[in-house]
Amino acid sequence: MKENIIAHDFNVDRKARANLMGHAGLLLWFTGLSGSGKSTIANALEQMLHKKGIHTYTLDGDNVRKGLNGDLTFSPEDRTENIRRIAEVGNLMVDAGLVVLSAFVSPYKKDREMVRKTVKDVNFVEIFVDTPLEECEKRDVKGLYAKARKGLIKDFTGVNAPYEPPSNPDVRIDTTQTSIQDSVEEIWKCIEKKLL
Ligand code: ADX
Repeated sequence: MKENIIAHDFNVDRKARANLMGHAGLLLWFTGLSGSGKSTIANALEQMLHKKGIHTYTLDGDNVRKGLNGDLTFSPEDRTENIRRIAEVGNLMVDAGLVVLSAFVSPYKKDREMVRKTVKDVNFVEIFVDTPLEECEKRDVKGLYAKARKGLIKDFTGVNAPYEPPSNPDVRIDTTQTSIQDSVEEIWKCIEKKLL
């Protein structure tokens, strides 16, 4: 299918755009259970980065699944396709020079590795929001755990679908132990040098 597609080399490249932006592009990949706090931390971090003059964009599961990925379910195959499309979109945004904050459950290790490969290791930061299932379920902000326990949602991560935790994330945060502000500081420490 791709055999007759030959990529054109454009003169304004990733490096040139990063120079103009004043920082490198990065993909900050938040993974964790539904309700673990991925979007909350991403939101607080984005505010901090924005104040520092860093160009950002946030991609998050609930929003992207209403648009671009509105045709996808939560079956293992569709989750993989969900993450594949986000990886491609994220890669374009990183190429454009943005710091992209992406918050998706992304329960499968192989899918997250695919993102890392797509965007390249140096541009990828894996942030594991490691809030225990019991805590996510206690919070149940969207009421989805209660529904899933009643058998009203199939393939719900943590209840009747698996979550494979990262074995070596760049940052690990347990929101029962760490405040939002401290989480943001920890991520900042990890990414500060990568932005140069
Ligand atoms: S992913 O597994 O494909 O990465 P994604 O992050 O896009 O998931 O979407 C997860 C969000 O969709 C959750 O935060 C939750 O609000 C909602 N959701 C609805 N059904 C499910 C389900 N079966 N499993 C997990 N999340 C679900």
